[in-house]
Amino acid sequence: MRLDGNGMGSGKGKGKGNTGANGAGNGNGHAQGNGNGSKPEPIFPLPLRVLITGGAGFIGSHLAEHLVARGAAVTAIDDLSTGSFANIAHLADRKDFRFVCESVTNEAVMDRLVSHCDIIYHLAAAVGVDLIIKNPVQTIETNVLGTEAVLRLARRYHTKVLIASTSEVYGKSDNHPYKEDDDRVLGPTTRSRWAYAESKALDEFLALAYHKEFRIPVVIARLFNTVGPRQTGAYGMVIPRLAQQAVEGRPLTVYEDGLQSRCFCDVRDVVPALIGISHCAAAEGEIFNVGSEQEISILDLARRILRISGSSSPIEFIPYERAYRSDFEDMRRRVPNIERIRGLIGWEPRISLDQTLEEVIAEFRARAESASSPGPVRAAIVR
Ligand SMILES: NC(=O)c1ccc[n+]([C@@H]2O[C@H](COP(=O)([O-])OP(=O)(O)OC[C@H]3O[C@@H](n4cnc5c(N)ncnc54)[C@H](O)[C@@H]3O)[C@@H](O)[C@H]2O)c1
Repeated sequence: MRLDGNGMGSGKGKGKGNTGANGAGNGNGHAQGNGNGSKPEPIFPLPLRVLITGGAGFIGSHLAEHLVARGAAVTAIDDLSTGSFANIAHLADRKDFRFVCESVTNEAVMDRLVSHCDIIYHLAAAVGVDLIIKNPVQTIETNVLGTEAVLRLARRYHTKVLIASTSEVYGKSDNHPYKEDDDRVLGPTTRSRWAYAESKALDEFLALAYHKEFRIPVVIARLFNTVGPRQTGAYGMVIPRLAQQAVEGRPLTVYEDGLQSRCFCDVRDVVPALIGISHCAAAEGEIFNVGSEQEISILDLARRILRISGSSSPIEFIPYERAYRSDFEDMRRRVPNIERIRGLIGWEPRISLDQTLEEVIAEFRARAESASSPGPVRAAIVR
């Protein structure tokens, strides 16, 4: 791996790869093994030079890992505001992986990076309910200015872009399951929790406008709750928070009555969906829900985490006003309709929630064990 502080790595001329075809995959966005246990086959044309913004984040790091394993050359740019170098440390010795520690709003750096890539996965964003409530200015500026910078450069170099949007854009609509063209129902601008949804919706408007006006090949993925190993609970994500509490023997904090529900999709299912739609010409200029259709209440989720972890922690119910502020609003359900992506590339989630929970709990358990023993692994990290 090359580690750049200012993004000024060397590179060859532009020479775009063909990122518009849909013929390279198996149709559902999942890579196929070659049967002898060696490197998985790519589902995209090679050579492929990829730029991932937010590449040291939870989803970005899984995307980078997946692409590098299939022969793509990946550059990840991240300011490490919510991401972590630890997420990509295992890619550090790969010569086809490069990390640039910078903000996507640094246009000089981004210009150089975009000029040397065939496709951009724009994942960098201010994410998580806690962060949005605490830092509304950072949320709006990062999400809107960052995406604007990416799209302007994509226009300059006519580069394909996948924009990571969110199910939050549906707001508090009761019209389940949500379809991509449904109306949206948002709260007032005085409640900063809606700033995330609005900033991401503006990203979508801008991306679609660049597509319509300048024919920039953009694809928008509206991600529903995405979960799995490496996700941090530090910014309000429910599964890592509950899993960590269970492993540490602390009460599992469930907001309100816990009967609000969500659909959780494993990141290792989400990544092939992103790759599948970003290499499908028919997906350009379109929006796709990406998520699981399996709904679970947060109370049942907490109980399942207790069962899988074997923890005897109690469940503690906390009103939203204690967790956030008195004017906090949340939606009771959020269920995707995934017919569009299923119909186009045959994608659907495969990994069960139990499997995801087992791995997330194992990850927190391993972390707790390495923190409590001064073994060689911890010593290596400290040094
Ligand atoms: N995880 C989910 O459930 C979920 C759901 C819906 C949408 N999304 C979207 O997916 C994308 C990735 O989210 P994630 O869950 O991996 O969160 P994450 O916080 O782990 O990833 C976001 C990354 O962007 C980086 N970043 C923030 N501002 C930056 C800037 N100005 N310049 C460079 N890097 C910057 C952060 O450091 C972080 O590594 C985001 O766009 C998010 O809105 C995620």
